[in-house]
Amino acid sequence: MPASDALISSIRAQEILDSRGTPTVKATITLQSGARASAAVPSGASTGSNEAVELRDGDPKRYFGKGVRKVIAHIEGEIAEAFKGRDVCNQAAIDAALIALDGTPNKARLGANALLAVSMAAARAAALVRGEPLHRSLCEKPSNLLPMPMFNVLNGGLHAPGSSLDFQEFMLVPMGAPSFSEAVRYAAETYHAIKELLIAQGHSTAVGDEGGFAPKLMGGNQAACELMVRGMERAGYRPGEDLAIALDPASTSFYKNGRYHLSRSGNQVLDSQEMVELYQGWLNVFPIVSIEDGHAEDDWAGFAAMTRQLGGQIQIVGDDNFVTNTRIIQRGIDEGTANASLIKLNQIGTVSETIAAVRLCQKVGWGSVMSHRSGETEDAFLSDFAVAVGAGQMKSGATARSERLAKYNRLMEIEAELGDRAEFVNPYR
Ligand code: PGA
Ligand code: ZN
Repeated sequence: MPASDALISSIRAQEILDSRGTPTVKATITLQSGARASAAVPSGASTGSNEAVELRDGDPKRYFGKGVRKVIAHIEGEIAEAFKGRDVCNQAAIDAALIALDGTPNKARLGANALLAVSMAAARAAALVRGEPLHRSLCEKPSNLLPMPMFNVLNGGLHAPGSSLDFQEFMLVPMGAPSFSEAVRYAAETYHAIKELLIAQGHSTAVGDEGGFAPKLMGGNQAACELMVRGMERAGYRPGEDLAIALDPASTSFYKNGRYHLSRSGNQVLDSQEMVELYQGWLNVFPIVSIEDGHAEDDWAGFAAMTRQLGGQIQIVGDDNFVTNTRIIQRGIDEGTANASLIKLNQIGTVSETIAAVRLCQKVGWGSVMSHRSGETEDAFLSDFAVAVGAGQMKSGATARSERLAKYNRLMEIEAELGDRAEFVNPYR
């Protein structure tokens, strides 16, 4: 293939809608060969304050100010001009040039959504040039490891304002499954069993932003864990053996003036240490293997106390505090803040920086959990990324709603492509 086939001919962008009906960005790179690759960026609701800037128009006459026409103009103008004729096959160079062109520390000028759409589309274009699937082409030494999935089957917090759950995510982890596709089956069957239990108890089976049920349960957060265990049993699985629970309270969303306000489930107000005690109590009763954002993004001391007390037993994941930023994750490593990091491409804004965040976790023996956002698209870039870097874990919502399933279905496709080479391991042993 002539070398010119890897050169960018043009970059176009489009304002599309995410799974909440809010605008987001899709970029398309056309190479001189005529080959084209596209990518769409997701958008969060419970965002960390140090995330790279998601640029929006702020024009109240369109989409309540959430339009992304400025971002489209940045991609088709400045970025397209700067990148015309560039080789897409050097991802690190592409991303470094995007960061330099933006020129701000938090990607505020061009928008992290502009940079990431182009960065991801370039990764896909490079895979086309190499004639390889994205999960083989993205990293020099691609892994064969399918991630242990976490399925968010009960939604609360900012993702389900009408539910009785203060905690945002109650996830099923099929840690006893022998393969990724079997893990999907364990979770899908349990999801249906939970639905039957909800119907039998007269609860709503309406779902939240990530496809999990959003019921008004008497007994709030704890009742949600009980319901999950009963769902596992009803589907014929052994709680704690075949399936476990992972939580993302996303506690920044209910942290005010140094206290945690569990207002939906009985108006409890707890301090940092009382939150640790709450989780500790649950570990004695429920098969919990991982807790993400059990403390708020500013409560570094609370996070560290939790890691000291419970980090030997379970995975403690930082999300809103670390925001996929190697500098901040390094602080977490130095201070013993957690033992794992969530990884979201759009928190940092380029593919290379996201790979660096995973590599840092791997270097120090931390877990890394790849993650979708609550506002998603049909793009399953995340799945190829998770396998390529060997992240080991990934969350993409419930086994419902196609923007969630797109990621799991793509992983099953990759599993089939890898055949005998595919690896799947329980990271919590
Ligand atoms: P978000 O939530 O995408 O709304 O930020 C996901 C998470 O908190 O992990
Ligand atoms: Zn989170």
